[in-house]
Amino acid sequence: MTKQNEIYDLEKQEVDKEIDQNIRPSKLDEYVGQEEIKENIRVFIEAAKLRGEVLDHVLLYGPPGLGKTTLAHIIANELGVNLKTASGPAIEKSGDLAAVLSTLEPNDVLFIDEIHRMPRFIEEILYPAMEDFEFDIVIGQEGSSRSIKIDLPPFTLVGATTRAGDISSPLRDRFGIVSKLNYYTDEELKSIIQRTSRVLDMPIDDDAAEELAKRSRKTPRIANRLFKRVRDFALVNGDSIITKEITMSSLEKLHVDQYGLDQIDIEYLTSLINKFNGGPVGVETIATSIGEEVSTIEDVVEPFLLQEGFIKRTQRGRVATDKAYEHLKIAHYQDSLF
Ligand SMILES: Nc1ncnc2c1ncn2[C@@H]1O[C@H](COP(=O)(O)OP(=O)(O)O)[C@@H](O)[C@H]1O
Ligand SMILES: [Mg+2]
Repeated sequence: MTKQNEIYDLEKQEVDKEIDQNIRPSKLDEYVGQEEIKENIRVFIEAAKLRGEVLDHVLLYGPPGLGKTTLAHIIANELGVNLKTASGPAIEKSGDLAAVLSTLEPNDVLFIDEIHRMPRFIEEILYPAMEDFEFDIVIGQEGSSRSIKIDLPPFTLVGATTRAGDISSPLRDRFGIVSKLNYYTDEELKSIIQRTSRVLDMPIDDDAAEELAKRSRKTPRIANRLFKRVRDFALVNGDSIITKEITMSSLEKLHVDQYGLDQIDIEYLTSLINKFNGGPVGVETIATSIGEEVSTIEDVVEPFLLQEGFIKRTQRGRVATDKAYEHLKIAHYQDSLF
């Protein structure tokens, strides 16, 4: 894996896990941006506490690195309860779900990451758990098996997904609070970078923080990753503060361009334009042509390119926009009359 890919390998490579625990905000007040979600969650938490009831189930969705896991931890923290974690793809059998549910104490938060990757039959046994805090478990051999009902303590399920569309509507309907996380503004990213700089005790100049923010794909996880890599360059250079100069030279070495596009983004756009004449072309075809997983393209690459107006989605497939041509400096010959 190349150096650049390492930085953008969003979910898999948690090499800096320990550091990440420190730079991850643990209170709602420290959580930058997403103002509307924050305000709503603050009210719902307050109301649940006043009523002495459990918080309604929460579904968080949006591209990787925007703060879903962080928010789940914050919710548990603000409620003053434990957070138990599970991952959708790891829940394969009803026993797996039973094991997770059996650890819950009253009002706990159960966080299920990648909840869209849970098998459908697991979803179905999750419904009564969500609605009535009851869990049906089948015991005994086939033929003489019977189902027994187990009472669960009231709990809050927080589900996270990059794909709201992949969640069945009966499951989605069982979440009282559904929130979409949005890409961050450059100012918000700047303040996240400045916060990380304080936590890691490595000062950064104002204009350097601004530059890093602009190149972070509007994503806090990438802002923090880039900060850490630039910090490495500064350290080796003998600098005690991150300047704009070292930031610019590091970003160049990391192949992050002025829009924050990384190597996969550029490969995607280059392929779309050069091999497929700017589209329309199907996502599978592009994925194959650049050797990436369709899910990476759909969950990570395309949402940002769409948001920034480099591509458009049409019924016949993906299309490169003029902005993409301009950015890659490829002359765009519109269908001409001649
Ligand atoms: N709103 C935020 N304010 C400050 N830092 C954030 C925020 N959202 C995310 N981060 C940082 O970005 C990192 C990635 O966020 P995470 O919650 O793991 O994203 P997701 O679960 O959506 O993929 C976190 O470790 C945290 O340090
Ligand atoms: Mg996460």
